[in-house]
Amino acid sequence: MSFSISGFLMADKQTGNGDICMVTKPPPTPSPLRFSKFFQPTMRILVTGGAGFIGSHLVDRLMENEMNEVIVADNYFTGSKDNLKKWIGHPRFELIRHDVTEPLLIEVDQIYHLACPASPIFYKYNPVKTIKTNVIGTLNMLGLAKRVGARILLTSTSEVYGDPLVHPQDESYWGNVNPIGVRSCYDEGKRVAETLMFDYHRQHGIEIRVARIFNTYGPRMNIDDGRVVSNFIAQAGRGEPLTVQAPGTQTRSFCYVSDMVDGLIRLMEGENTGPINIGNPGEFTMLELAETVMELINPDVEIITVDNTPDDPRQRRPDITKAKELLGWEPKVTLRDGLPLMEEDFRLRLGNPRMN
Ligand SMILES: NC(=O)c1ccc[n+]([C@@H]2O[C@H](COP(=O)([O-])OP(=O)(O)OC[C@H]3O[C@@H](n4cnc5c(N)ncnc54)[C@H](O)[C@@H]3O)[C@@H](O)[C@H]2O)c1
Repeated sequence: MSFSISGFLMADKQTGNGDICMVTKPPPTPSPLRFSKFFQPTMRILVTGGAGFIGSHLVDRLMENEMNEVIVADNYFTGSKDNLKKWIGHPRFELIRHDVTEPLLIEVDQIYHLACPASPIFYKYNPVKTIKTNVIGTLNMLGLAKRVGARILLTSTSEVYGDPLVHPQDESYWGNVNPIGVRSCYDEGKRVAETLMFDYHRQHGIEIRVARIFNTYGPRMNIDDGRVVSNFIAQAGRGEPLTVQAPGTQTRSFCYVSDMVDGLIRLMEGENTGPINIGNPGEFTMLELAETVMELINPDVEIITVDNTPDDPRQRRPDITKAKELLGWEPKVTLRDGLPLMEEDFRLRLGNPRMN
């Protein structure tokens, strides 16, 4: 049975295995400041993990809108104040050193919840902390969203599909994930984070948005962070061999960060909870990527094969039909256009002369 109260779906359902029930409540009342005589023209937006790679580009875009006040909460584990230096001291910007595994009591209208190390080197460094960040961190942010009536967006990941048995992956695929592997702190952590988002939505009416992000690249990635694009560009910049993990035929899709930020903002502003895949469907083998980096950045380096890490997915490509239909979004920047922009940033940070 389902019926509607003021536009919100109330559904009461018995599932096949006897489990109850999906109830979607209206969202909690937003702060009275939104609607009263104290109405404030600005939108207060919290970005957790805003000192990181994607987060700092998101902050740049949000700050372009003069109606936005942006608050970043970050523990600087993998992020850096450097990424936000142009905003420090700006009257519409605030930076808080904060670990999301602790509660945060502030007044905001929207929460972009990105805080979580994304590179295997960092998320495997302290896997228990990674799980805590995903689970306790997301609980804390949902608690905040509930208290202040804010809309919250989670940056989940294509890793929720694990080593996928369907290709390309659309959002209805439940995944093929090892629950006890070395990557599980991240994959399973994000899966629980998604579960928490939807449970808070059903049980408490929180307005949620869930993005499933596929590999993203661009300026401000950590150099040598173990992600394949940053590895290859740093290696090419230093004149070192490009290390392709065996067998080299495994594929990934790479989305330029400006496209990613555009997709996240459209998701937040739109009417769909998701989960929605956001990524670039162009698919490359690791060997093809290495050859492209070599051609565009440093033709003098060689390509060598090294051992692979456990549970490395063989194939990864987003089906972005939903993003196209529901968000009117698709990526614009090709790999050949994006790689040189990233190389420029890496070259400046490494202090290298131009190679090509
Ligand atoms: N970059 C990608 O290709 C990719 C792919 C899929 C999903 N994602 C997701 O997007 C988000 C951002 O990824 P990114 O590539 O910018 O990573 P990043 O490591 O550059 O940024 C993560 C930020 O979160 C901060 N952080 C980590 N743990 C925290 C904690 N406990 N409390 C507060 N801050 C904390 C870090 O200091 C950093 O600033 C992550 O949630 C990640 O899982 C990224």
